[in-house]
Amino acid sequence: MKTLTVEVKHQELQKWVDEMEAICNPERVHWCDGSKEEYAVLCEQLVEKGTFIKLNEQKWPNSYACFSDPSDVARVEDRTYICSRKKEDAGPTNNWVDPREMKPKLKKLFKGCMKGRTMYVIPFSMGPVGSPMSQIGVEITDSEYVVVNMHIMTRVGARVLEVLGTQGEYVKCLHSVGAPLEEGARDAQWPCNSEVKYIVHYPEERTIVSYGSGYGGNALLGKKCFALRIASVMAQEEGWLAEHMLIMGVESPDGEKNYIAAAFPSACGKTNFAMLIPPAEFKGWKVTTVGDDIAWIKPGKDGKLHAINPEAGYFGVAPGTNAKTNASAMQSIARNTIFTNVGVTSDGDIWWEGMTKEPPKDLTDWRGQKWDPASGKPCAHPNARFTAPANQNPSLDSDWENPDGVRIDAFIFGGRRSTTVPLVYQPVNWNFGVYLASTMGSETTAAAFGEIGKVRRDPFAMLPFCGYHMGDYFNHWLQIGRDLPAPPRIFGVNWFRKDENGNFMWPGFGENMRVLKWIIQRIRGKVSAVESPVGRMPRYEDIDWSGSTFTKVEFDRIMEIDREAWKAELLGHAELFERMYDKLPKEYIFMRELLLSSLWRSPAKWHLEPELN
Ligand code: GTP
Ligand code: SPV
Ligand code: MN
Repeated sequence: MKTLTVEVKHQELQKWVDEMEAICNPERVHWCDGSKEEYAVLCEQLVEKGTFIKLNEQKWPNSYACFSDPSDVARVEDRTYICSRKKEDAGPTNNWVDPREMKPKLKKLFKGCMKGRTMYVIPFSMGPVGSPMSQIGVEITDSEYVVVNMHIMTRVGARVLEVLGTQGEYVKCLHSVGAPLEEGARDAQWPCNSEVKYIVHYPEERTIVSYGSGYGGNALLGKKCFALRIASVMAQEEGWLAEHMLIMGVESPDGEKNYIAAAFPSACGKTNFAMLIPPAEFKGWKVTTVGDDIAWIKPGKDGKLHAINPEAGYFGVAPGTNAKTNASAMQSIARNTIFTNVGVTSDGDIWWEGMTKEPPKDLTDWRGQKWDPASGKPCAHPNARFTAPANQNPSLDSDWENPDGVRIDAFIFGGRRSTTVPLVYQPVNWNFGVYLASTMGSETTAAAFGEIGKVRRDPFAMLPFCGYHMGDYFNHWLQIGRDLPAPPRIFGVNWFRKDENGNFMWPGFGENMRVLKWIIQRIRGKVSAVESPVGRMPRYEDIDWSGSTFTKVEFDRIMEIDREAWKAELLGHAELFERMYDKLPKEYIFMRELLLSSLWRSPAKWHLEPELN
């Protein structure tokens, strides 16, 4: 492979790499240039090693599938640490270990950990190279899988080193799969350490150290570790926001356009919403994608918030993705894509639950075994993912790489709630909106290792990603609102409410456009709303139902406010607050009381249609 065409002028970086080489003891060091050639050669190597399966060139051009180790299928939240110098800076929602204790422990683990492997040095930019809102990281890794994924998910290569110059700042990201190769030993198909995993952040030092996992957010360190955990700390210090949010443009037939940022927890619909295709009846309405997972948002001189997507690709949930639920995603992954933990056929086709009604014959499941559809076991892992370049998305926004970002006019927050939370509502002001986001609950998904389906408070969908004290984070959001002359409007949504038979009450996906249109009309001051005990709501007639069969009765049911369920909800808020008593915004106590008082006098089942109350 050709080596880097640009010399390393940054002496401190060179010194760090030399030090890491001395500790990790790899066979060789390779500086990544981000070229197509480099990508091709590494994919080839991964095929030779048995990690990658080259897919059928006719069906999936230039694409690969791979199966991870069964112990390495998602983020490991209980092995993720914020090692700030002081425990109180990590707060009650993060695992904390004193850095003076963690560092020697990790140093021991990293000693010789890259034996027999290549150490790759990946200079990457989060955000368009050279944009004032972008940041640089350098990831050292012993995983070819990580390098090729980083090629897609970030901007890699010599251009980045040029911007870094001789003394530019960058985030140090050290990663090892934790599987040294003894002389003559055969490499595992998915090297990782099935016993020991550590995902460690030193926020003051802007440093990340990850050991033992090769999967997703554990290993592609630009994503959750840098762009959320470390960046959230930078953002708090510098007065901006690093959020687990999609960014979308919404254009109405008259050409007016707004941008929205929306936070939903992992595997709760960000990618789908960011690529929404409006129903046919919404002629002239266009939704465009800026980002599907992370937003960096800064107040501008114009008193507005401006956002960039720091990523360059999509690491999206595969199961459930199909031509109907997300046609743009299907086009985004049509070529040049890496599929992890999906089913594979012997002729190089792929499949996952929900891709088509009928699975193709002769499937190998994500465990590498012949799949028996009657077994009841899924063919693809529920957290199976695709890694695809953003520029293959047909609905990509024309400003998605604008170095100054796009202006954000509204925020949407939504969890996965089978009960209690209505389809859509609008808190009365910024503070109540921030309160809503802070107390958001969601049923857990397969995107994080752990119990599935339990409601947990997931403030701002940032519970696993906030790099500092959650109470400080709430205060930071309140302060951002105080500093803006007219902060964006905030909305709550829930696509996941279920009826008594366990069926989704809302068709979701493209149909979410109906809710989105109401939101857009609200921020433009063009549609009315009524007061409910928890905020403002559209009446049936405020929503565009053209082409829909959704009835007034169905709408009334999905908007119902069950008093006792909401009281229980408010108790859940108190439980969260109690955990961060020392730093809780004082407003929250009063806002909770106000919500309780409006519920107190509401009917047991509050309905939009007054005659039903
Ligand atoms: P991360 O990448 O983990 O941060 O998640 P994400 O929020 O981008 O998740 P994604 O869009 O990939 O969501 C995937 C899951 O949500 C799939 O199971 C989808 O079927 C489901 N989903 C997305 N939108 C909707 C919707 O409108 N209604 C319903 N019922 N399910 C949805
Ligand atoms: C998430 O879990 O929110 C993801 C996937 O976006 S991962 O990058 O693996 O964290
Ligand atoms: Mn995510």
